[in-house]
Amino acid sequence: MSKQFDVIVIGAGPGGYIAAIRAAQLGFNVACIDEWKNAAGGAAPGGTCTNVGCIPSKALLQSSEHFEHANLHFADHGISTGKVEMDVAKMIARKDAVVKQNNDGILYLFKKNKVTFFHGRGSFVKAVEGGYEIKVAGKEEEVLTGKQIVVATGSNARALPGVPFDEELNILSNDGALRLGKAPKKLALIGAGVIGLEMGSVWRRLGTEVIVLEGMDKFLPAVDEQIAKEAKKAFDKQGLKIELGVKIGEVKSGKKGVSIAYTNAKGEAQALEADKLIISIGRTANTAGLNAEAVGLALDERGCIVVDDDCKTSLPGVWAVGDVVRGPMLAHKAEEEAVAVAERIAGQHGHVNFGTIPWVIYTSPEIAWVGRTEQQLKEQGVKYKAGSFPFLANGRARALGDTTGMVKFLADAETDEILGVHMVGPMVSELISEAVVAMEFKASSEDIARICHAHPSLSEATKEAALAVDKRTLNF
Ligand code: FAD
Ligand code: NAI
Repeated sequence: MSKQFDVIVIGAGPGGYIAAIRAAQLGFNVACIDEWKNAAGGAAPGGTCTNVGCIPSKALLQSSEHFEHANLHFADHGISTGKVEMDVAKMIARKDAVVKQNNDGILYLFKKNKVTFFHGRGSFVKAVEGGYEIKVAGKEEEVLTGKQIVVATGSNARALPGVPFDEELNILSNDGALRLGKAPKKLALIGAGVIGLEMGSVWRRLGTEVIVLEGMDKFLPAVDEQIAKEAKKAFDKQGLKIELGVKIGEVKSGKKGVSIAYTNAKGEAQALEADKLIISIGRTANTAGLNAEAVGLALDERGCIVVDDDCKTSLPGVWAVGDVVRGPMLAHKAEEEAVAVAERIAGQHGHVNFGTIPWVIYTSPEIAWVGRTEQQLKEQGVKYKAGSFPFLANGRARALGDTTGMVKFLADAETDEILGVHMVGPMVSELISEAVVAMEFKASSEDIARICHAHPSLSEATKEAALAVDKRTLNF
């Protein structure tokens, strides 16, 4: 006799575990299945985000930033340290401890919300009356029956054709990149997207020579051009080498390292030797092992599960959220979809506003944005007003000793409604929330300009950028 549940969630990343908790809060009897194993073979819920994504990358970014501050900036504050050294093994162990705290936190939340957790691979067996049979292949095999199924199986790193990841030796995805035992002398990255810039920054700060090879001839094309330019200037100054417009040729991996043949933007043949290579050229939906064919779950040409705006799949009672479906591959997007799906299952009206999903790149300076870029508004023929304010003129940024970057507002030329907010600079990962709230409430730039912001704070740059839309900054 199979165990019966109202809702079965497959995957316990940010999409899956949040769907399970919200469904349990709404009174359903919920199971969540996840196969991720920690080094000891135990359950490690939290998915890519917790184990090899958001959380560990931010832990290493923090450690490496402390190291860089100690090396380059403490002296400005009158602090002398002598020679500063980095114990990479300890940095990685700290990161592992942070990951474990998050894994354990999710197991605690499952208990608190009475979600039954199964450690193993979940796959469809067949449709049954009023639901689906799901097999869990873990230490033991079990069969569950669920009235509603939420698939949240996430994504995997995309490999370069013919260059499989070895993770331990030379060719690394985000997984291997987050557990290097020591700082390589020379590190190559293919792909100057979010992972390329974040991981490149970590190892550059620790003294590695970093070269990032990017196929596009434009840097961060999804980012507002003015912001991307400002960020590129800062990365160049730091010595993070980014080569645009390359075409990757043969990649050879050997005992001594990796060699990468490529042509540069001028079409000249180049050869790059490096100790390690991180490939960060995007991610692909993970549906392997779901046995989607058994029930006829439709996938698109890129392997994503096909869903409508409400995250309904091609099958009645089966939903899918997060990286395994269309849309940006972001943890908070997965979480929003998860909550909305649980609420829809309960007959409520869950809603996700794709127009106000913020993006953050956690480099130094940080890059953050919400809404449309200036180039998108131009392409769409929208009449807009722009206003920006540099951190150079912000008192808190001067006191911090980091005046790189700016805040930029784009507002509708007639109604003044905020259409996009773009930031590059210190702690803009936190500042962007104000812009998200404003856009969610359809605020105008004048609304932000009229709100009292604490002094001295970086958030005053947000207010001043809003004032700049009306050409009336007070401090610049
Ligand atoms: P995942 O987190 O991938 O979780 C899917 C889970 O399902 C996994 O645990 C997997 O083991 C499990 N699973 C898969 N198939 C099965 C099966 N058949 N049975 C049982 N279990 C299964 N996003 C941000 O918003 N901010 C960041 O700062 C950020 N940093 C990132 C840094 C890196 C290096 C990477 C790689 C990604 C980062 N992301 C970030 C993206 C973020 O990690 C993903 O968008 C997010 O994890 C997607 O959540 P998900 O629940 O859809 O899938
Ligand atoms: P990405 O899509 O951000 O960047 C990939 C880059 O590789 C692009 O610039 C692309 O032009 C380039 N590229 C693709 N094929 C190439 C080739 N053959 N040769 C050279 N360049 C090539 O993907 P990335 O960095 O792998 O990250 C995957 C996803 O994970 C992100 O899109 C994002 O959704 C998520 N993520 C989010 C983070 C955050 O929110 N801070 C941090 C890290 C990842």
